[in-house]
Amino acid sequence: MKKILVTGGLGYIGSHTVVELQNAGYQVIIVDNLSNSSLDVLEGITNISKTPPAFERLDLRYKADVSEFFKRNQDIEGIIHFAASKAVGESVANPLLYYENNLNTLIYLLQECNAYGIETFIFSSSCTVYGEPDSLPITEDAAVKEATSPYGNTKQISEEILKDTCSISTLKAIALRYFNPIGAHETVEIGELPAGVPQNLVPFITQTAAGLRKELSVYGDDYPTEDGSCIRDYIHVVDLAKAHVIALGRLLSKTNNSNYEVFNLGTGRGSSVLEVVNSFEKTTGEKLNYKIVDRRPGDVISVYADTKKANDVLGWKAQETMEDALLSSWKWEKKVRGMQ
Ligand code: NAD
Ligand code: WQD
Repeated sequence: MKKILVTGGLGYIGSHTVVELQNAGYQVIIVDNLSNSSLDVLEGITNISKTPPAFERLDLRYKADVSEFFKRNQDIEGIIHFAASKAVGESVANPLLYYENNLNTLIYLLQECNAYGIETFIFSSSCTVYGEPDSLPITEDAAVKEATSPYGNTKQISEEILKDTCSISTLKAIALRYFNPIGAHETVEIGELPAGVPQNLVPFITQTAAGLRKELSVYGDDYPTEDGSCIRDYIHVVDLAKAHVIALGRLLSKTNNSNYEVFNLGTGRGSSVLEVVNSFEKTTGEKLNYKIVDRRPGDVISVYADTKKANDVLGWKAQETMEDALLSSWKWEKKVRGMQ
Protein backbone atom coordinates (compact mmCIF):
# COMPACT_ATOMS: atom_id res chain seq x y z
CA MET A 1 0.00 0.00 0.00
CA LYS A 2 1.50 3.32 -1.01
CA LYS A 3 1.59 5.88 1.77
CA ILE A 4 0.40 9.34 0.77
CA LEU A 5 0.73 12.47 2.87
CA VAL A 6 -2.30 14.76 2.64
CA THR A 7 -1.63 18.19 4.13
CA GLY A 8 -4.76 20.06 5.13
CA GLY A 9 -6.56 16.72 4.92
CA LEU A 10 -9.18 17.73 7.48
CA GLY A 11 -10.24 20.71 5.36
CA TYR A 12 -13.05 20.87 2.85
CA ILE A 13 -11.42 19.53 -0.32
CA GLY A 14 -8.75 17.55 1.54
CA SER A 15 -11.26 15.48 3.53
CA HIS A 16 -13.20 14.47 0.41
CA THR A 17 -9.93 13.56 -1.29
CA VAL A 18 -8.80 11.43 1.66
CA VAL A 19 -11.98 9.35 1.28
CA GLU A 20 -11.35 8.83 -2.44
CA LEU A 21 -7.70 7.93 -1.80
CA GLN A 22 -8.75 5.35 0.77
CA ASN A 23 -11.38 3.98 -1.64
CA ALA A 24 -8.62 3.61 -4.23
CA GLY A 25 -6.45 1.60 -1.81
CA TYR A 26 -3.93 4.20 -0.67
CA GLN A 27 -2.69 4.47 2.89
CA VAL A 28 -3.24 8.05 3.98
CA ILE A 29 -1.51 10.14 6.60
CA ILE A 30 -3.07 13.54 7.24
CA VAL A 31 -1.35 16.52 8.75
CA ASP A 32 -3.36 19.59 9.68
CA ASN A 33 -2.98 22.38 12.22
CA LEU A 34 -6.77 22.64 12.68
CA SER A 35 -6.65 26.36 11.89
CA ASN A 36 -9.70 25.95 9.63
CA SER A 37 -10.98 22.48 10.52
CA SER A 38 -11.73 20.24 13.44
CA LEU A 39 -11.06 16.73 14.66
CA ASP A 40 -14.72 15.83 14.02
CA VAL A 41 -13.79 15.59 10.35
CA LEU A 42 -11.62 12.55 11.14
CA GLU A 43 -14.71 10.81 12.46
CA GLY A 44 -16.69 11.77 9.34
CA ILE A 45 -13.98 10.36 7.08
CA THR A 46 -13.80 7.16 9.12
CA ASN A 47 -17.58 6.73 9.07
CA ILE A 48 -17.46 6.74 5.27
CA SER A 49 -14.35 4.69 4.58
CA LYS A 50 -14.48 2.50 7.72
CA THR A 51 -10.72 3.03 7.94
CA PRO A 52 -9.37 5.73 10.24
CA PRO A 53 -6.64 7.62 8.40
CA ALA A 54 -3.47 8.34 10.33
CA PHE A 55 -3.48 11.90 11.61
CA GLU A 56 -0.93 14.23 13.17
CA ARG A 57 -1.58 17.75 14.31
CA LEU A 58 1.25 19.63 12.66
CA ASP A 59 1.70 23.26 11.72
CA LEU A 60 3.66 23.32 8.49
CA ARG A 61 4.92 26.83 9.19
CA TYR A 62 7.41 25.38 11.65
CA LYS A 63 10.29 24.05 9.60
CA ALA A 64 11.89 22.04 12.40
CA ASP A 65 8.58 20.26 13.09
CA VAL A 66 8.16 19.49 9.41
CA SER A 67 11.67 17.99 9.24
CA GLU A 68 11.06 15.96 12.35
CA PHE A 69 7.79 14.64 10.88
CA PHE A 70 9.52 13.45 7.70
CA LYS A 71 12.32 11.85 9.70
CA ARG A 72 9.65 9.67 11.34
CA ASN A 73 7.76 9.01 8.08
CA GLN A 74 10.39 8.09 5.53
CA ASP A 75 8.04 5.74 3.71
CA ILE A 76 5.88 8.54 2.27
CA GLU A 77 5.68 8.10 -1.51
CA GLY A 78 3.64 11.10 -2.51
CA ILE A 79 2.24 14.36 -1.18
CA ILE A 80 -1.02 16.14 -1.89
CA HIS A 81 -0.67 19.64 -0.51
CA PHE A 82 -3.98 21.30 0.37
CA ALA A 83 -2.91 23.17 3.52
CA ALA A 84 -3.15 26.91 2.95
CA SER A 85 -5.09 29.97 3.95
CA LYS A 86 -7.76 30.74 1.38
CA ALA A 87 -9.81 33.83 2.24
CA VAL A 88 -9.21 36.45 -0.43
CA GLY A 89 -10.34 39.44 1.68
CA GLU A 90 -8.28 38.37 4.68
CA SER A 91 -5.23 38.08 2.44
CA VAL A 92 -5.63 41.74 1.43
CA ALA A 93 -5.85 42.75 5.08
CA ASN A 94 -2.98 40.52 6.22
CA PRO A 95 -0.71 39.69 3.29
CA LEU A 96 2.24 38.48 5.36
CA LEU A 97 0.07 35.84 7.01
CA TYR A 98 -0.76 34.55 3.54
CA TYR A 99 2.75 34.71 2.13
CA GLU A 100 4.03 32.92 5.23
CA ASN A 101 1.38 30.24 5.38
CA ASN A 102 1.03 29.53 1.68
CA LEU A 103 4.65 29.87 0.55
CA ASN A 104 6.81 28.80 3.49
CA THR A 105 4.81 25.61 3.96
CA LEU A 106 5.28 24.70 0.29
CA ILE A 107 9.00 25.40 0.42
CA TYR A 108 9.51 23.32 3.57
CA LEU A 109 7.65 20.39 2.03
CA LEU A 110 9.66 20.57 -1.18
CA GLN A 111 12.90 20.65 0.81
CA GLU A 112 11.84 17.41 2.49
CA CYS A 113 10.99 15.92 -0.93
CA ASN A 114 14.56 16.65 -1.96
CA ALA A 115 15.95 15.26 1.29
CA TYR A 116 14.02 11.97 1.16
CA GLY A 117 13.72 11.43 -2.60
CA ILE A 118 9.94 11.91 -2.68
CA GLU A 119 9.14 12.45 -6.34
CA THR A 120 5.37 12.85 -6.41
CA PHE A 121 3.65 16.12 -5.53
CA ILE A 122 0.17 17.46 -6.20
CA PHE A 123 -0.61 21.09 -5.48
CA SER A 124 -3.94 22.89 -4.97
CA SER A 125 -3.93 25.84 -7.32
CA SER A 126 -6.85 27.98 -8.37
CA CYS A 127 -8.56 29.52 -11.37
CA THR A 128 -7.81 32.81 -9.63
CA VAL A 129 -4.43 32.73 -11.44
CA TYR A 130 -6.25 33.61 -14.69
CA GLY A 131 -7.77 36.85 -13.39
CA GLU A 132 -10.25 38.28 -15.92
CA PRO A 133 -9.68 36.01 -18.92
CA ASP A 134 -9.26 37.30 -22.48
CA SER A 135 -11.32 34.46 -23.90
CA LEU A 136 -13.61 31.70 -22.66
CA PRO A 137 -13.52 28.84 -21.85
CA ILE A 138 -10.08 29.20 -20.29
CA THR A 139 -7.34 26.83 -21.36
CA GLU A 140 -4.30 26.05 -19.24
CA ASP A 141 -2.03 28.01 -21.55
CA ALA A 142 -4.02 31.22 -21.09
CA ALA A 143 -1.98 34.06 -19.66
CA VAL A 144 -1.57 34.16 -15.92
CA LYS A 145 -2.67 37.70 -15.07
CA GLU A 146 -1.32 40.04 -12.44
CA ALA A 147 -2.80 38.76 -9.20
CA THR A 148 -5.66 40.76 -7.73
CA SER A 149 -5.00 39.63 -4.15
CA PRO A 150 -2.10 38.35 -2.05
CA TYR A 151 -3.96 35.01 -1.90
CA GLY A 152 -4.02 34.80 -5.70
CA ASN A 153 -0.40 35.84 -5.79
CA THR A 154 0.57 32.98 -3.46
CA LYS A 155 -0.96 30.53 -5.96
CA GLN A 156 0.94 32.09 -8.87
CA ILE A 157 4.23 32.11 -6.95
CA SER A 158 3.63 28.56 -5.72
CA GLU A 159 3.24 27.36 -9.28
CA GLU A 160 6.54 29.05 -10.18
CA ILE A 161 8.27 27.51 -7.16
CA LEU A 162 7.04 24.07 -8.18
CA LYS A 163 8.02 24.47 -11.81
CA ASP A 164 11.53 25.66 -10.91
CA THR A 165 12.00 22.85 -8.38
CA CYS A 166 10.87 20.21 -10.85
CA SER A 167 13.27 21.53 -13.46
CA ILE A 168 16.36 20.81 -11.32
CA SER A 169 15.32 17.69 -9.42
CA THR A 170 13.62 14.33 -9.87
CA LEU A 171 10.42 15.79 -8.48
CA LYS A 172 7.32 15.42 -10.65
CA ALA A 173 4.45 17.72 -9.80
CA ILE A 174 0.94 18.48 -10.93
CA ALA A 175 -0.79 21.76 -10.13
CA LEU A 176 -4.55 21.44 -10.22
CA ARG A 177 -6.37 24.69 -10.85
CA TYR A 178 -9.74 24.34 -9.15
CA PHE A 179 -12.65 26.41 -10.35
CA ASN A 180 -15.46 26.86 -7.77
CA PRO A 181 -15.83 23.76 -5.57
CA ILE A 182 -19.26 23.22 -4.01
CA GLY A 183 -21.24 20.35 -2.51
CA ALA A 184 -20.70 17.74 0.16
CA HIS A 185 -20.21 13.99 0.36
CA GLU A 186 -23.43 12.08 -0.41
CA THR A 187 -23.32 10.43 3.03
CA VAL A 188 -23.39 13.91 4.59
CA GLU A 189 -20.55 12.80 6.87
CA ILE A 190 -18.25 15.55 5.56
CA GLY A 191 -18.81 18.90 3.87
CA GLU A 192 -17.80 22.54 3.89
CA LEU A 193 -17.66 24.27 7.28
CA PRO A 194 -16.76 27.93 6.79
CA ALA A 195 -15.65 29.80 9.90
CA GLY A 196 -17.70 32.94 10.56
CA VAL A 197 -19.71 34.63 7.83
CA PRO A 198 -19.25 32.73 4.56
CA GLN A 199 -17.58 34.67 1.75
CA ASN A 200 -18.43 32.10 -0.91
CA LEU A 201 -21.77 31.93 -2.65
CA VAL A 202 -23.06 28.44 -1.89
CA PRO A 203 -22.39 28.35 1.86
CA PHE A 204 -24.03 31.78 2.08
CA ILE A 205 -27.05 30.44 0.21
CA THR A 206 -27.42 27.38 2.44
CA GLN A 207 -26.94 29.41 5.63
CA THR A 208 -29.59 31.87 4.44
CA ALA A 209 -32.01 29.06 3.67
CA ALA A 210 -31.27 27.59 7.11
CA GLY A 211 -32.15 30.93 8.73
CA LEU A 212 -28.67 31.85 9.95
CA ARG A 213 -28.45 34.81 7.55
CA LYS A 214 -31.27 37.21 6.83
CA GLU A 215 -30.75 37.40 3.09
CA LEU A 216 -28.26 36.69 0.36
CA SER A 217 -26.72 39.73 -1.32
CA VAL A 218 -26.31 39.11 -5.04
CA TYR A 219 -23.30 41.21 -5.98
CA GLY A 220 -24.42 43.01 -9.11
CA ASP A 221 -26.90 42.43 -11.92
CA ASP A 222 -25.40 44.91 -14.36
CA TYR A 223 -22.50 42.83 -15.66
CA PRO A 224 -22.31 42.16 -19.40
CA THR A 225 -23.78 38.65 -19.03
CA GLU A 226 -27.18 37.30 -20.03
CA ASP A 227 -28.89 38.03 -16.69
CA GLY A 228 -26.37 40.61 -15.50
CA SER A 229 -24.83 38.51 -12.70
CA CYS A 230 -21.32 36.98 -12.70
CA ILE A 231 -20.58 33.61 -14.18
CA ARG A 232 -18.51 30.84 -12.56
CA ASP A 233 -17.77 27.16 -13.07
CA TYR A 234 -19.18 25.34 -10.02
CA ILE A 235 -17.75 21.86 -9.58
CA HIS A 236 -18.81 19.14 -7.14
CA VAL A 237 -16.13 18.59 -4.52
CA VAL A 238 -16.33 14.80 -4.97
CA ASP A 239 -15.53 15.16 -8.67
CA LEU A 240 -12.61 17.33 -7.67
CA ALA A 241 -11.46 14.76 -5.11
CA LYS A 242 -11.53 11.97 -7.70
CA ALA A 243 -9.32 14.01 -10.03
CA HIS A 244 -6.60 13.99 -7.36
CA VAL A 245 -6.58 10.20 -7.27
CA ILE A 246 -6.22 10.09 -11.04
CA ALA A 247 -3.45 12.71 -11.03
CA LEU A 248 -1.66 10.78 -8.29
CA GLY A 249 -1.89 7.58 -10.32
CA ARG A 250 -0.40 9.36 -13.29
CA LEU A 251 2.58 10.61 -11.27
CA LEU A 252 3.20 7.30 -9.50
CA SER A 253 2.96 5.22 -12.65
CA LYS A 254 5.50 7.52 -14.29
CA THR A 255 3.57 7.35 -17.57
CA ASN A 256 4.07 11.02 -18.19
CA ASN A 257 7.27 12.50 -19.53
CA SER A 258 6.79 15.97 -18.24
CA ASN A 259 8.10 17.01 -14.84
CA TYR A 260 5.50 19.64 -14.21
CA GLU A 261 1.93 19.82 -15.46
CA VAL A 262 -1.06 22.05 -14.88
CA PHE A 263 -4.71 21.03 -15.24
CA ASN A 264 -7.97 22.92 -15.01
CA LEU A 265 -10.54 21.18 -12.82
CA GLY A 266 -13.97 22.48 -13.67
CA THR A 267 -17.11 21.30 -15.40
CA GLY A 268 -16.64 23.47 -18.46
CA ARG A 269 -20.04 25.02 -17.84
CA GLY A 270 -20.54 28.58 -16.67
CA SER A 271 -23.48 29.41 -14.38
CA SER A 272 -24.56 32.86 -13.27
CA VAL A 273 -25.22 33.76 -9.65
CA LEU A 274 -28.93 34.06 -10.39
CA GLU A 275 -28.91 30.66 -12.09
CA VAL A 276 -27.37 29.16 -8.95
CA VAL A 277 -30.02 30.83 -6.80
CA ASN A 278 -32.84 29.58 -9.04
CA SER A 279 -31.37 26.13 -9.24
CA PHE A 280 -31.07 25.98 -5.45
CA GLU A 281 -34.71 26.97 -5.02
CA LYS A 282 -35.89 24.49 -7.63
CA THR A 283 -33.79 21.56 -6.42
CA THR A 284 -34.43 21.96 -2.72
CA GLY A 285 -37.91 23.47 -2.77
CA GLU A 286 -36.66 26.18 -0.39
CA LYS A 287 -37.48 29.82 -1.03
CA LEU A 288 -34.36 31.95 -0.82
CA ASN A 289 -34.43 35.48 0.47
CA TYR A 290 -32.12 37.57 -1.69
CA LYS A 291 -31.60 41.08 -2.97
CA ILE A 292 -29.46 42.62 -5.66
CA VAL A 293 -26.73 44.88 -4.28
CA ASP A 294 -23.68 46.67 -5.70
CA ARG A 295 -20.88 44.77 -7.35
CA ARG A 296 -18.26 43.26 -5.04
CA PRO A 297 -14.87 44.89 -5.69
CA GLY A 298 -12.40 42.56 -7.36
CA ASP A 299 -14.96 40.15 -8.85
CA VAL A 300 -14.23 38.99 -12.38
CA ILE A 301 -17.18 38.90 -14.76
CA SER A 302 -17.04 35.42 -16.15
CA VAL A 303 -14.77 32.42 -15.61
CA TYR A 304 -15.21 28.83 -16.72
CA ALA A 305 -12.84 26.07 -17.63
CA ASP A 306 -11.81 24.47 -20.84
CA THR A 307 -11.64 20.89 -19.56
CA LYS A 308 -10.17 19.28 -22.67
CA LYS A 309 -6.70 18.75 -21.21
CA ALA A 310 -8.02 17.08 -18.05
CA ASN A 311 -10.42 14.99 -20.20
CA ASP A 312 -7.78 13.91 -22.72
CA VAL A 313 -4.66 13.55 -20.58
CA LEU A 314 -6.08 12.50 -17.20
CA GLY A 315 -9.17 10.81 -18.57
CA TRP A 316 -11.15 12.75 -15.97
CA LYS A 317 -14.48 14.46 -16.44
CA ALA A 318 -16.86 15.94 -13.88
CA GLN A 319 -19.83 13.59 -13.42
CA GLU A 320 -22.08 15.37 -10.95
CA THR A 321 -24.50 18.13 -11.89
CA MET A 322 -24.78 21.48 -10.17
CA GLU A 323 -28.19 20.35 -8.88
CA ASP A 324 -26.58 17.27 -7.24
CA ALA A 325 -24.01 19.52 -5.63
CA LEU A 326 -26.51 22.09 -4.37
CA LEU A 327 -28.74 19.40 -2.93
CA SER A 328 -25.82 17.81 -1.11
CA SER A 329 -24.75 21.23 0.26
CA TRP A 330 -28.27 21.78 1.53
CA LYS A 331 -28.46 18.33 3.17
CA TRP A 332 -25.10 19.01 4.81
CA GLU A 333 -26.20 22.43 6.08
CA LYS A 334 -29.36 20.91 7.56
CA LYS A 335 -27.36 18.20 9.29
CA VAL A 336 -24.86 20.68 10.73
CA ARG A 337 -27.71 22.87 12.02
CA GLY A 338 -29.61 19.92 13.45
CA MET A 339 -32.58 20.47 11.10
CA GLN A 340 -34.73 17.41 10.22
P1 NAD B 1 -9.80 24.50 3.93
O1 NAD B 1 -9.45 25.71 4.71
O2 NAD B 1 -11.09 23.83 4.20
O3 NAD B 1 -8.63 23.42 4.11
C1 NAD B 1 -7.29 23.76 4.34
C2 NAD B 1 -6.81 22.96 5.54
O4 NAD B 1 -5.42 23.26 5.76
C3 NAD B 1 -7.55 23.29 6.83
O5 NAD B 1 -7.97 22.09 7.45
C4 NAD B 1 -6.51 24.00 7.69
O6 NAD B 1 -6.71 23.77 9.06
C5 NAD B 1 -5.21 23.44 7.15
N1 NAD B 1 -4.04 24.32 7.29
C6 NAD B 1 -3.94 25.62 6.95
N2 NAD B 1 -2.71 26.07 7.23
C7 NAD B 1 -2.00 25.01 7.74
C8 NAD B 1 -0.68 24.86 8.22
N3 NAD B 1 0.16 25.88 8.29
N4 NAD B 1 -0.31 23.64 8.66
C9 NAD B 1 -1.17 22.60 8.63
N5 NAD B 1 -2.44 22.70 8.20
C10 NAD B 1 -2.85 23.90 7.77
O7 NAD B 1 -9.67 24.88 2.39
P2 NAD B 1 -10.13 24.07 1.11
O8 NAD B 1 -11.28 24.77 0.52
O9 NAD B 1 -10.21 22.63 1.39
O10 NAD B 1 -8.90 24.37 0.16
C11 NAD B 1 -7.82 23.47 0.04
C12 NAD B 1 -6.81 24.03 -0.93
O11 NAD B 1 -7.44 24.31 -2.17
C13 NAD B 1 -6.18 25.36 -0.48
O12 NAD B 1 -4.83 25.35 -0.89
C14 NAD B 1 -6.97 26.39 -1.27
O13 NAD B 1 -6.22 27.57 -1.47
C15 NAD B 1 -7.21 25.65 -2.57
N6 NAD B 1 -8.37 26.13 -3.31
C16 NAD B 1 -9.59 26.18 -2.70
C17 NAD B 1 -10.70 26.64 -3.41
C18 NAD B 1 -12.04 26.78 -2.76
O14 NAD B 1 -12.87 27.54 -3.26
N7 NAD B 1 -12.33 26.07 -1.68
C19 NAD B 1 -10.55 27.03 -4.75
C20 NAD B 1 -9.29 26.94 -5.34
C21 NAD B 1 -8.21 26.48 -4.61
C1 WQD C 1 -19.03 33.36 -6.66
C2 WQD C 1 -19.98 34.36 -7.27
C3 WQD C 1 -19.80 36.58 -6.34
C4 WQD C 1 -21.18 35.57 -2.34
C5 WQD C 1 -13.40 32.70 -4.76
C6 WQD C 1 -11.94 33.04 -4.76
C7 WQD C 1 -11.20 32.16 -5.70
C8 WQD C 1 -11.48 30.70 -5.42
C9 WQD C 1 -12.94 30.41 -5.31
C10 WQD C 1 -9.74 29.82 -4.03
C11 WQD C 1 -19.34 35.73 -7.52
C12 WQD C 1 -21.16 35.99 -6.05
C13 WQD C 1 -20.81 35.51 -3.66
C14 WQD C 1 -22.36 36.30 -1.99
C15 WQD C 1 -22.71 36.78 -4.32
N1 WQD C 1 -10.91 30.27 -4.18
N2 WQD C 1 -21.55 36.09 -4.64
N3 WQD C 1 -23.08 36.86 -3.01
O1 WQD C 1 -15.31 34.92 -6.08
O2 WQD C 1 -15.56 33.10 -7.80
O3 WQD C 1 -13.89 32.86 -6.06
O4 WQD C 1 -13.54 31.33 -4.39
O5 WQD C 1 -8.85 29.74 -4.80
O6 WQD C 1 -9.86 32.46 -5.56
O7 WQD C 1 -11.81 34.38 -5.15
O8 WQD C 1 -16.27 32.65 -5.46
O9 WQD C 1 -18.15 31.93 -4.07
O10 WQD C 1 -17.00 34.11 -3.51
O11 WQD C 1 -18.40 33.96 -5.53
O12 WQD C 1 -23.39 37.31 -5.20
O13 WQD C 1 -22.72 36.44 -0.82
O14 WQD C 1 -21.05 34.62 -6.33
O15 WQD C 1 -19.91 37.94 -6.65
O16 WQD C 1 -19.89 36.23 -8.70
P1 WQD C 1 -15.28 33.50 -6.41
P2 WQD C 1 -17.45 33.14 -4.53
